[in-house]
Amino acid sequence: EENREEHLEGLKTALTKFHEGFDPMVWKNFAERLHYVRGDFEQVSDYVKLAEYLKRFDPAESCTNKIFYMATAPNYFPKIIENLESSQVFDLLGDCWKRIIIEKPFGSDLESAKKLNQLVDSKFSEEEVYRIDHYLAKETVQNILAFRFTNGLFEKVWNKDFIDHIQITVAEDFGVENRGGYYDKAGNLRDFIQNHLLQLLALSIMQAPEDLSAEKVRDARLASLQSLKTYHDDEVEKNVVLGQYEGYQSEPKVDPNSKTDTFSALRVFSNLDNFKNVPFYLRSGKNLPTKAAYLNIVFKKSENFLLPDGSNLPNILTFHIQPKQSIEISVFVKEPGQEPKLKKVDLEFDYNKNFKTEIADAYEKLILDLIDGLQTFFPRSDEVETSWEFVEPILKKLDYLAIHVYEKGTWGPKESDELLKTDQREWLNNQT
Ligand code: BG6
Repeated sequence: EENREEHLEGLKTALTKFHEGFDPMVWKNFAERLHYVRGDFEQVSDYVKLAEYLKRFDPAESCTNKIFYMATAPNYFPKIIENLESSQVFDLLGDCWKRIIIEKPFGSDLESAKKLNQLVDSKFSEEEVYRIDHYLAKETVQNILAFRFTNGLFEKVWNKDFIDHIQITVAEDFGVENRGGYYDKAGNLRDFIQNHLLQLLALSIMQAPEDLSAEKVRDARLASLQSLKTYHDDEVEKNVVLGQYEGYQSEPKVDPNSKTDTFSALRVFSNLDNFKNVPFYLRSGKNLPTKAAYLNIVFKKSENFLLPDGSNLPNILTFHIQPKQSIEISVFVKEPGQEPKLKKVDLEFDYNKNFKTEIADAYEKLILDLIDGLQTFFPRSDEVETSWEFVEPILKKLDYLAIHVYEKGTWGPKESDELLKTDQREWLNNQT
């Protein structure tokens, strides 16, 4: 059984591995403040033990602020909340606050998400609840809105008259690793599409919020999510491609006959007037050729110019979310010389070149926001439910949908390429 020392050792190892510039003195100071109480999620008596332990931090007639961070397997969330409540840890005296963080996935479908929201709502006010989607806190993701709304040049063309389509890719070049137990029940649709990809899409098409308060920004994101057309039963197969990488079924803790999706590609439309008939193509998956996330706004082609080979290419605005952190626009320029030749070049803004400060990790930003009580980058209950509503028709058909096996290190099954080919378009690959 792990004890406090071993737990701290584990934290230290992780910190030295993932955080550049580890400072042993800072760590020593910090570690002294860390306490450790071991318990079983299901055992009420262990929560009572925790409640007793926490009392030592609450001076008489007063109390300390408390954050409860649930980073456990999602099926334990309800039990933990109930047990915490019955142990009375939530009963605060005096002038302090409690907040709860809930890691994703928030529920496993619409019904369970609603149930979890109801439970959480019955114990907490919405101001106390922080649902995590760490993609919202990535610096590059936060720049999508800043860039779109403050640059008139782009704001004016952000609509169906100028945009041909939008592509969003979030790829990973590794498999499920040691998370087979969780992943096999989740799959890519639940692990990535329902949250990260839909939130990226919401930011790409959302209307300017009335102001920058958490409520208004969340209202605006919600409106984007609500605008997404949910598939009718007979539309799912035409618009959704699911895949599973070769060898997935022999991963640890994975069912040897598993039909879980490790890849998905979707064609999505919105009911917003501004984006009427503009397709959004989303794809993400494990064991793809690279770990990279990017968003491409593909503009309509110029009608006047052809490239030397007679082709006509569009301007593309790319938000590189990771590992590259930049915003690029491909444009065409005349090559030097007598011949009227055109060449495609990129205009680029690169975080590393322009800003010398270290870019904080998404989780660092979220935890600071949480302490400050800033909810802007935490999805509200209605956002989470609306995202599930969108995914629901696909989940309902999961048992019948084909899961195409793809070779590790490729861009998923060929059906994903065909999804775009039928629209005379293609995925923009290798944008790292
Ligand atoms: C998590 C998923 O939300 O995001 C994981 O559960 C995934 O499966 C991870 O690996 C990716 O996060 P990032 O920030 O490394 O792209």
